[in-house]
Amino acid sequence: MEIRNLTPVIGAEITGVDVRTLDDAGFSKIEELWLQRCLIVVRDQHLTPAELCAFGRRFGELEPPPASEARRRDEEAAEMWIISNVVENGKPIGALGSGEAEWHTDMSYIPSPPSASVLYGREVVTDGGRTWFGNMMAALESMPPDLRERLEGRTINHDASYTSAGDLRKGMQAVTNVTAAPGARHPVIRPHSVTAREALFTGRRTNSWVVGMDVAESEKLLDEIWAWCTRDEFLHVHEWRPNDLLVWDNRSTIHRREAFDASARRVMWRCQVRDVA
Ligand code: SIN
Repeated sequence: MEIRNLTPVIGAEITGVDVRTLDDAGFSKIEELWLQRCLIVVRDQHLTPAELCAFGRRFGELEPPPASEARRRDEEAAEMWIISNVVENGKPIGALGSGEAEWHTDMSYIPSPPSASVLYGREVVTDGGRTWFGNMMAALESMPPDLRERLEGRTINHDASYTSAGDLRKGMQAVTNVTAAPGARHPVIRPHSVTAREALFTGRRTNSWVVGMDVAESEKLLDEIWAWCTRDEFLHVHEWRPNDLLVWDNRSTIHRREAFDASARRVMWRCQVRDVA
């Protein structure tokens, strides 16, 4: 197994390994790297849906797909779903289309968001469609003290109404008042469920609310937090190659996906792991 750090603060590329045949010692090394580097990029994997889910299960129990995504009939890969812009027989085969997906943490709008997200590039695009990642532990650790002070003890309401692509979820109403948006509330400074290291936990910008604050004041503070945590020094951009297998720590990262040409094909397989907390 060869390992290369992708930036000083986030991401490790792993080559020379086949995750289907990884022994326990090999997996422990990968798991440790994922906790430390927040994102691992394993190159050149050749997986079936069942093999993808089997690898995901080594990180913990898999979550079912979000309610908006169709369940598969395949028993061994029931937790897998598809992220894609491809339309077959007039129906999208997956989620998120070809537009931009804004910065977010997966499913932060539920009380216990996933610990790990697994994304496998089956068909990738080279013009746009890159996925950006940010290390929220690093962003918190180097945050100006006056900004940090204003966050201590605060919680954010994470709106459940819209997807990161800006689509209203099934059964949800458009949000006209962020203080009444449905979702979950989490501390802005949140300890990691395994390492206890603190990270900024911001979810997504759209329809967020710093609980208890006047809306204008909350918007101003959220703008400051987002301007800080999306600074270049905390980020890595992943340029997809076919058969890349990515796992990010959803407790300590944010990510966003760039838009790409709607006529190109992008097909990704996805599963995610339930948090231990
Ligand atoms: C996601 O936001 O979970 C998907 C990212 C991507 O399509 O690259």
